[in-house]
Amino acid sequence: MSLARARAGIDQRKLREIQERYARSTAGYSKYADVDRWLRLSRECVQDLQLHRAPPQRVLDLGCGGGFFLLLLQSLGHDALGLDTDRVPLYGELTQLFGVQRIIWRIKPREPLPTFDQQFDWITAFSVAFNVDAGDRPWDVPEWDFFLRDLQRHLAPSGKIYFALNPNTGGKFYTRQVRDLFLQRGAEIERERIFFRNGLRL
Ligand SMILES: C[S@@+](CC[C@H](N)C(=O)[O-])C[C@H]1O[C@@H](n2cnc3c(N)ncnc32)[C@H](O)[C@@H]1O
Repeated sequence: MSLARARAGIDQRKLREIQERYARSTAGYSKYADVDRWLRLSRECVQDLQLHRAPPQRVLDLGCGGGFFLLLLQSLGHDALGLDTDRVPLYGELTQLFGVQRIIWRIKPREPLPTFDQQFDWITAFSVAFNVDAGDRPWDVPEWDFFLRDLQRHLAPSGKIYFALNPNTGGKFYTRQVRDLFLQRGAEIERERIFFRNGLRL
């Protein structure tokens, strides 16, 4: 899968200006200014999900960050919407540069997502970081259960959900109880990858 179409839509002058501004930044997120590297990594996500071979899909990407995955989906003809907080200005600058759609929203435990004017064929989240509460504790079964039930409202019939989790401070992706919940709800689990290929079993 070539990145040429995605790259072609990027205003290189504006990109260089952003990169120069973040070149000396010590903030961890400044790594996302290296657009080419993150596009290549996001391409692997697209390919893993076979979205480079799929007819147009409606995709909601939670915690979309700089919008690399969204840009690739858009370049493939999919209808992609991101959701993220506005805490990191670089993400806003990149999503604007890429011309991808993003809504500003903070996911909170046991609070529903906003209303969307459509359902989605895919709900994705890569390097998930929303699954911690205000005290920095990872979500447990009740929070995940609420969240999954809420996602169901936004999923089209035959829709799929895919998460790639980040490890918690102990280096684990989930507790045994959370893993059991994912399995009960129909997930295939491979390390950090949680895939509800046939939607949710509720
Ligand atoms: C590690 S970054 C991953 C970004 C992107 N998914 C990627 O793989 O390049 C985690 C993202 O989740 C977002 N995020 C963290 N907590 C969130 C929350 N409670 N609600 C929405 N987004 C959140 C962050 O702003 C950030 O963009």
